[in-house]
Amino acid sequence: MQIITEPGQMQVIAEKLRLNRQLIAVVMTMGALHEGHLSLIKLARQSAGTVILTIFVNPMQFAPTEELHRYPRPFEQDVALARSAGVDYLFAPEVSSIYPDHFQTTLQCGALGEHFEGKLRPGHFNGVATVVSKLFNITKPHRAIFGEKDAQQLAIISQLVTDLNMEVTIVPAPIVREENGLAVSSRNIYLSSDERNKAGILYQGLCHAEKRMAGDERNLQTIAREVEEIISSTPGCRTDYVNFVDAISFELAETAEKGKEYRLLVAAICGSTRLIDNLRIRA
Ligand code: PAJ
Repeated sequence: MQIITEPGQMQVIAEKLRLNRQLIAVVMTMGALHEGHLSLIKLARQSAGTVILTIFVNPMQFAPTEELHRYPRPFEQDVALARSAGVDYLFAPEVSSIYPDHFQTTLQCGALGEHFEGKLRPGHFNGVATVVSKLFNITKPHRAIFGEKDAQQLAIISQLVTDLNMEVTIVPAPIVREENGLAVSSRNIYLSSDERNKAGILYQGLCHAEKRMAGDERNLQTIAREVEEIISSTPGCRTDYVNFVDAISFELAETAEKGKEYRLLVAAICGSTRLIDNLRIRA
């Protein structure tokens, strides 16, 4: 595995790979690699001859109040994990080479970026879209793997690629969960072991919704309220939002149409940690 820090050098390598007809898959992360990230790398390995992993804690997607500097950066451990997962190139640039002095061009996501996670974190998805576009231009991938864990991010990136005619195929990866259903996340380290057990309730809520829809309940607001109750009845847990959206447009959905796909989005606070989860459900 080769470690690269300079964007220019990464571009030269990617261009050579393309000239040699190598299929490139990229996995973009902010590091602190866990099972979720590793599943993306595995999918990348299966879908292309060359795998590029990017590790970059992107300042542009953090609000001034969020703790950018506290974000975990276990670089040596990440290098070892990436190597054993079969990554070919690890691109880990410095902030100054991604955002040099006088950098000023950014992307604006539109309506998709304004609700749910975007409402809580204004500008967050513009920061994501900007860095993801830069990383596409630097790593020149044919395929890019993104987790369904961050479903809104996945929708925004798919829209970005369509809107800007980018020649990259977005491959969604299923959510990796712990044994009790809790979605694996770098934030889970902030949960006590008791909170971690209790946080399995988010997945139980999602599964309840799936059963209700399989049982032909069409009123999505009724189901969302039930899920809210299930989560809030767990001591120490409260919901931020529980909403059904159209699986593609991310528009709020109130009544289920037979055969259509929806996504139930959940954000909840367990102890003092905010968690997000979701499930794609066909009516
Ligand atoms: P990060 O939070 O490090 O996540 C990197 C990728 O891992 C994302 O595509 C995310 O959806 C996926 N992922 C995280 N937990 C997962 C899980 N339990 N199962 C499956 N996939 C999971 O998302 C970002 O970084 C950044 O916003 C980034 C796209 C790198 C831009 O800076």
